[in-house]
Amino acid sequence: MIKVSPSILSADFTKIYEAVKMLENAGADYIHCDVMDGKFVPNITFGQKMVSDLRRHTKLPLDVHLMIVEPERYVMEFAEAGADIISVHVEATIHLNRTLKLIKSAGKKCCVSLNPHTPLNVLDYILEDIDMVLLSSVNPGFGGQSFIPYSIRKAQELKQMIESRGLAVDIEMDGGLGAHNAKLVTDAGVNVIVAGNAVFSAEDPKDIISRLKLEK
Ligand code: DX5
Ligand code: ZN
Repeated sequence: MIKVSPSILSADFTKIYEAVKMLENAGADYIHCDVMDGKFVPNITFGQKMVSDLRRHTKLPLDVHLMIVEPERYVMEFAEAGADIISVHVEATIHLNRTLKLIKSAGKKCCVSLNPHTPLNVLDYILEDIDMVLLSSVNPGFGGQSFIPYSIRKAQELKQMIESRGLAVDIEMDGGLGAHNAKLVTDAGVNVIVAGNAVFSAEDPKDIISRLKLEK
């Protein structure tokens, strides 16, 4: 089953409530929240308050992608704000094992994110401890960028790594995804698709979400 996690970053921030209701009606599985600090990535977006406000208005799981340095300083606050899945970048935290334990201690699903060039071997010793891997298929920082093609091989190799260990870790891909490449990435092993621009610029978001799930 393919899940779709539309990124609220592509919404009009003055109309977040409408965006959430639109996503619920369109069949979104999660709401992807791109938190950026202007340091780990060049852009600044929003923080815990956005997550807690979203929490009050939807039951959809909130899939929080922390693109911030030292995420360990904030994971508990995002957990308390109502995040369901918390993703931290391996490149941003020195003691990943400790950071993941923190996320788990808050009862949240933990996800490890990798920048496009970061090799999969960083996952070697922690794969058993995580619920999901997020593969950034663009240089994180902005919505609406072009998909980096080598992300396909990366997903295939990750899928193999997960299966060879008999694990059930989800593979989320994030950046530059749309109806044109959904089959390519899901064939490669991706089962959670993040989509910002593709969903929010669509005339019919419900149609695009079902295309991303390969239902059409
Ligand atoms: C990129 C973010 C993505 C992005 C997705 O830095 O992590 O979630 O907003 O947007 P699209 O689908 O437009 O590439
Ligand atoms: Zn993201």
